[in-house]
Amino acid sequence: MSSEDLTRELGLLKESIDKAMGAAVSGYRCDVPLIREAMAYSAGGGKRLRGAIVLSTYASLGGDGDAMPFALAMEMVHAYSLVHDDLPCMDDDDMRRGRPTCHRKYGEAIGVLAGDALLTLAFETAASSDLPPYRVVEGIRALAYGAGAAGMVGGQVLDLQPGISTGGGPSVHRGSNGDDPADRVRLTYRLKTGRLFETAAKLGAILAGAPATTVARAGEAGMCFGFAFQIMDDIDDSVQGGSEDQKDTLVKRVSLDAARREAASALERSIRLAGPDWFLARLSKHYLATKLAADSPSASPS
Ligand code: IPE
Ligand code: IPE
Ligand code: MG
Ligand code: MG
Ligand code: MG
Repeated sequence: MSSEDLTRELGLLKESIDKAMGAAVSGYRCDVPLIREAMAYSAGGGKRLRGAIVLSTYASLGGDGDAMPFALAMEMVHAYSLVHDDLPCMDDDDMRRGRPTCHRKYGEAIGVLAGDALLTLAFETAASSDLPPYRVVEGIRALAYGAGAAGMVGGQVLDLQPGISTGGGPSVHRGSNGDDPADRVRLTYRLKTGRLFETAAKLGAILAGAPATTVARAGEAGMCFGFAFQIMDDIDDSVQGGSEDQKDTLVKRVSLDAARREAASALERSIRLAGPDWFLARLSKHYLATKLAADSPSASPS
């Protein structure tokens, strides 16, 4: 499959998610239009990678119902994480998805509240799924786990306070006590970004009723993709001189070349773990070919 085919495939998935997202958020009934407007503003745009992984993993594993409520929930959690990530107390960014960040447009308090409202709407939306109730409950549990202290939120804390202890937890990084600075960054990436991609792939498998081993395998494939995705994002941010300039990144810890090699090997592992016909495998191949190929722009020494 060529890169153009993948782009077309993602385009179709994105189109269906964008449409459903518009209906879910802009059509949400509440008495305060301002918060709905800020939610719709922040939930709009984006590549929809996590939602696409939910839908396509579900279909690849034989799911023939409607997984869209979970694709939306996944994207709402992701959008909330970005709204809060951009706040002055976090990365303090002015632009997101090519336009002013939520707090820049609506003020800081509405930024906080729009994030809160997207997070809660995610669970309301997931709970409205008409898939078998025991799968829906398991999906909601997985989403909460990936989003919270054991996942994205925990990673954001490490990202902001890289010096704090990571002891005593179910570390997702094997072979380290987390004291090594590069390992600390790897753990941060796995939690803040890997976990939501892991969740997206797991959701597809859970909702399709796949056996536990397949759910775990899908999750690990998603985690590997997400880990590589964060390395590539940091490489892009460092080239553009973004907010990660002040952050501890893998590039700073191990060199640009070594970080690129780690991202490439994580993508290769994602391809091995995902089914050969899965969208996630095609997506990993696409990023390997476009972002990490020897002649890609970020491959030149900086
Ligand atoms: C941005 O993720 C945040 C990171 C994990 C680096 P995306 O690049 O997937 O964001 P959107 O949804 O396409 O805007
Ligand atoms: C990922 O980190 C964001 C979240 C986990 C919410 P970044 O802070 O690097 O993402 P960007 O660069 O702002 O999109
Ligand atoms: Mg951040
Ligand atoms: Mg940021
Ligand atoms: Mg970044």
